[in-house]
Amino acid sequence: MTFNPLRERGIPLDKQLRNWRELNVTPTDPDHADPYTRCRIITMNGIEVEAVMFSHHLARHCPDTELKQQLARVRYIEAQQQKAVNWLLPGLASVLETTIAYEQVAVDLTAWVARMEPDPYLQQAYQFGVLEDFDHLYRYANLYEMIEHRKAEKIVDQLTEVMPGRPTYLHHRDPVDNVREPYDRNSTAPISKLHALTIMSAEQQTMNFYMNVGPMYMEPIARQLYQEIGLVEEEHVTHYESLVDPGESWWEMLLNHEYNECYLYHSFMETESDPKVKNIWELHLNMELEHLRLAAELFKKHDGRDPEQVLAPELPAPVTFEPNKGYIRELIATQIDYTTLGTGYVQEAHERFEKMQEAIMGGEKAPSERIIDENRERSGREYRLQTEGEHPVHSLQMQR
Ligand SMILES: [Fe+2]
Ligand SMILES: [Fe+2]
Ligand SMILES: [Fe+2]
Ligand SMILES: [Fe+2]
Repeated sequence: MTFNPLRERGIPLDKQLRNWRELNVTPTDPDHADPYTRCRIITMNGIEVEAVMFSHHLARHCPDTELKQQLARVRYIEAQQQKAVNWLLPGLASVLETTIAYEQVAVDLTAWVARMEPDPYLQQAYQFGVLEDFDHLYRYANLYEMIEHRKAEKIVDQLTEVMPGRPTYLHHRDPVDNVREPYDRNSTAPISKLHALTIMSAEQQTMNFYMNVGPMYMEPIARQLYQEIGLVEEEHVTHYESLVDPGESWWEMLLNHEYNECYLYHSFMETESDPKVKNIWELHLNMELEHLRLAAELFKKHDGRDPEQVLAPELPAPVTFEPNKGYIRELIATQIDYTTLGTGYVQEAHERFEKMQEAIMGGEKAPSERIIDENRERSGREYRLQTEGEHPVHSLQMQR
């Protein structure tokens, strides 16, 4: 079953516009939906937000009016897709519930990508990052129990465990140490380009989301936790975006973006359990095939190269949401004490790291530590969801 999006016909661009009725999608059932359906919705929203913002940035560098008009036409469709996708979320969820779902995406999407990534340096970047979002999930789950008196398993089900990863207060590194080395666009495997774009987009949307929703809570500890984790997401976007080769031309980047949209809609169409949502993935795939064709033409014209030279000959195996519990436990057991130094990784706190820690803590405990203390006090114990037994690191086992 090979699928080469460059050879498939999509929906012509002038047939892609949807009216209000068509845009008014039926949201998923808040009580019975598969948590991984929600994860796919959140992922594709991040991808479409990136498609829109990337196209805006390209347009701002584009002196040719006709080209700008073509970008505007495609971008309007991307904006409609973003609406259709994100409006699949039912309005019932609280900000914190959506936040917990965002971190579940970060955990299970990044872990899957880490497992599939062929390049060891890139794989290390995903392994490093996933242990941090895994810890965010645990901090927010405790905030959720404390202020909304509910348990995170209502959201993540039993699919993703909730327990400490690399403790959040240790995520605050000197910004210099968040920049990684990029892959080489000429020699890297095509799948590696897609992985980097996907995780960068997901983290960027998480960063944007916390920027906007953080001040919506009144409780001081909630406001502070969103500030703290919001700043870590800034670090994550820096970390992942620096993996992408900046030597790619704007047209090559556009081509990779459209190809990645085809890849993800195709992946989710293949793996979706909700038939109504699956129809949206299929419709959007057929739109993206045309976006890709248009991007390929621009690439041929302005870069003078053949798209087949830079893209995969067929779609890689579908991106799949599935539990990664064993894999994450193994990473916790081996990489929990990692930090970064320059573009590499070390296991001890170095001078620049200590300096940053001192400056940002200001002699106090971080909100991410206080939330656990406060929830222990109020609920009698902290919140965890350990379906596979005790925590793999002895010092992080549940205190009684
Ligand atoms: Fe799109
Ligand atoms: Fe996170
Ligand atoms: Fe993150
Ligand atoms: Fe697109």
